[in-house]
Amino acid sequence: MRITIIGTGYVGLVTGTCLAHIGHSVIGVNRHPQKSSQLNQGKIPIYEPGLERILAGARRNGKIRFTTDLGQAVQSSDIVIIAVGTPSRRDGSADLQQVRQVAVQIGQALRKYAVIINKSTVPVGTARIVGALVKKHFRGKFDVVSCPEFLREGSAVRDFLRPDRIIIGSESSRATQAVLQVFRNIPGKKVITNIETAEMIKYASNAFLATKISFINEIANVCDRVGADVEQVALGMGLDPRIGQAFLRAGMGYGGSCFPKDVRALNTIAGTKGYNFRLLKSVIEVNNRQKNILLKKVKKNLKNIRGKKIAVLGLAFKGNTDDIRESAAIDIVRLLQSAGAQISVYDPAAMPNARAVLDGTVKYANNSYQAVVKTDAVIIASEWEQFKKLDWSRLRQSMRGNLIVDGKNLLNRSILERLGFRYVAMGK
Ligand code: UDX
Repeated sequence: MRITIIGTGYVGLVTGTCLAHIGHSVIGVNRHPQKSSQLNQGKIPIYEPGLERILAGARRNGKIRFTTDLGQAVQSSDIVIIAVGTPSRRDGSADLQQVRQVAVQIGQALRKYAVIINKSTVPVGTARIVGALVKKHFRGKFDVVSCPEFLREGSAVRDFLRPDRIIIGSESSRATQAVLQVFRNIPGKKVITNIETAEMIKYASNAFLATKISFINEIANVCDRVGADVEQVALGMGLDPRIGQAFLRAGMGYGGSCFPKDVRALNTIAGTKGYNFRLLKSVIEVNNRQKNILLKKVKKNLKNIRGKKIAVLGLAFKGNTDDIRESAAIDIVRLLQSAGAQISVYDPAAMPNARAVLDGTVKYANNSYQAVVKTDAVIIASEWEQFKKLDWSRLRQSMRGNLIVDGKNLLNRSILERLGFRYVAMGK
């Protein structure tokens, strides 16, 4: 099929590239000429394992190209996918400016029937707004479908090609058939609902996962007080299939481009409809507090933070990505700085993004070994696998102190204690 995807951020680029990979002819639309031309040369602006390789294959087969010309792309497509950003506004609601703007542009460009699929995470009711905006400018027949995306950064390609489910919020059988064609080679259960339900499924899923994380973080905080081990607790709980093992890793709280924003947005949606979603408010509060709990652990173990040298390993909001949006690691660096610590940092992928937001007093190391030289403490702040494999005895020798505060419960206590470290984790 001929598909246009508007927006080439994480979701747009992964979706467009994967659709080209499975044989569709895809045009990716982007506002910035320079970004489009780089993508046309196969250069991707994000760190996403496997993406560059499948983009190269799709380009070789002539299945994908990028442009700034939205009108021409829309006119030559049967399917138009909206995958633009919906950042948080100050009040927690989703900012739909880009979605609205794109809807108007699609309406102005359309000349024949097309299915408009919304993949951006939007408040319930937005697909109808998109439909109304398109209709203002295009008198012909078209359909709007809501098809929320569930991919995770770091495993986005695999998540797209092997999803657990594909949600299709559609009220026209012609559009439903077209969307089923788009995903014809992709396994996973297809759930067909009305538009509002599809939009709600996305928010409910992310809010539930965030709730699991805040719940296990609360349990971790109690474990710290009673001498229990949260990892064992999570294992024991998760073996009950009604609970499941996933998303029960305690740590510094969730971050990233989705959970914080979507949880806030769902809370606001409920509020504007006159409903007080108490549970979500607590989920947000627990998540915000978790970084301070880590900070308290550092303070307690170093006695005084002022003047101490501390290495923060990991800056991305989780391992395997360069994304620092709402990263607890970045917050921790700032909290430690305002408490008077001198900070050195290392992240395998997120250093360029971190440089753009952190202040000039932070020292950027070329690797973990360099970051810890003469430090009093090391904080693990993203779950990168490579931190597990470091030669910790070498790190121990080059440090001034011996404290590790593991904000992600990534490392092995007994190995580190044998090497002479004081190991402090979250709830164990
Ligand atoms: C998430 C959803 O998983 C995905 O379905 C949706 O489409 C977008 O949002 P992503 O933001 O890429 O994906 O990251 P995810 O792996 O879900 O992790 C989110 C945050 O939660 C990270 O900060 C991670 O460190 C944290 N987390 C995750 C925990 O603290 N504990 C866990 O058990 C799992």
